Amino acid sequence: MFNLLSPIRMGSLELKNRAILAPLTRCRAGAGCVPHALNAEYYAQRAGAGMIISEATQISQEGQGYPNTPGIYSPEQVAGWKLVTDAVHRAGGKIVCQLWHVGRISHNAYQVGGAAPVAPSAIAAKGMCRLPDGTREPYPVPRELETDEIERIIREYETAAANAKKAGFDGVQLHAANGYLLEQFLRDSSNKRTDQYGGSIENRAVFLLEAAEALVSVWGPDRVGVRLSPSGWSSDFTDSSPLETYTYVAEELDKLELAFLEIREADAESIAAGSPNIPVSAFRDAFSGALVANTGYSREKADEGIASEQFDAVAFGKPFISNPDLVERFRRGSELAPWDAKTFYPSPGADLSHGYTDYPALAR
Ligand SMILES: Cc1cc2nc3c(=O)[nH]c(=O)nc-3n(C[C@H](O)[C@H](O)[C@H](O)COP(=O)(O)O)c2cc1C
Repeated sequence: MFNLLSPIRMGSLELKNRAILAPLTRCRAGAGCVPHALNAEYYAQRAGAGMIISEATQISQEGQGYPNTPGIYSPEQVAGWKLVTDAVHRAGGKIVCQLWHVGRISHNAYQVGGAAPVAPSAIAAKGMCRLPDGTREPYPVPRELETDEIERIIREYETAAANAKKAGFDGVQLHAANGYLLEQFLRDSSNKRTDQYGGSIENRAVFLLEAAEALVSVWGPDRVGVRLSPSGWSSDFTDSSPLETYTYVAEELDKLELAFLEIREADAESIAAGSPNIPVSAFRDAFSGALVANTGYSREKADEGIASEQFDAVAFGKPFISNPDLVERFRRGSELAPWDAKTFYPSPGADLSHGYTDYPALAR
């Protein structure tokens, strides 16, 4: 019987255990959204994970919506990521790059020439955007993408995937979760288009599936994964038939024979806010590759789900922030250190290592 510490093969990715570092934005890239030595140290500290999924990494400037998130579209960014992947490999780990376009979750302050951010439809997200200088402003009304621009963005996904290869990653994950561009197309509350990318579930899923195919064209399917968040939404970001929509997507992704599908499940807060609560196991029949669970897992809950074949691996987010040696702590049955949400993102002028690389590992 398998448990969290059992090795697993997902496509061509050989994992030494099934505890994955979930993608975690930390807003600590350098000027030009370039990763640097401190980021390499942070990821290398967590190389005990069976696999690391990088923080969300924008495929273009248009795809950015938060301060100091890393990109993978310039030669400098590729060189910066090479520092990270080399450090992770030296420490015996594996790392895939999460490829990201935020769509409407951005602001003119991030866009070339101060243009409006782009989205499936001209509907602003509710809430406040954090600007490069640390202040906050409401999300602006985005510009609706022209039909023929979608092909341009798919080519940007493809170029970013090729850049990830140059940067020494072991694979890529398509970020199709958490309210960003691909999910904005998928959900009928944010997609009111009348062209071939809007209307039916099939049409709303086309962009996501074409982006996944672009990644596969670079890497082959056996080093590509996708992240979906069928649950967990806000009042302005819903879908009229989430189980049907996401089951269709999982079935179509299965046809691409991808290495893995990661499902971010609902947390207590979003359930309280009225979000659906669709478990990862709902996708077991639809997807035959490795299924990765996420949100609120403990060692015990992970072991239970793996043993009963509800899913194959678990991605840990917050516990990995404050426990760089999380897998070793699971192995020893040690206490986990609590995380400090105040330092998830740095305050302006703060020491970047604080709450980032200064959580200690257990003594050997
Ligand atoms: C600080 C922080 C940054 C995050 N950044 C990302 C991200 O870049 N990409 C992503 O898909 N999810 C992101 N998430 C969501 C996590 O990957 C994960 O789904 C969430 O923390 C729930 O898992 P956990 O209960 O193990 O923490 C982030 C979460 C946190 C707390």
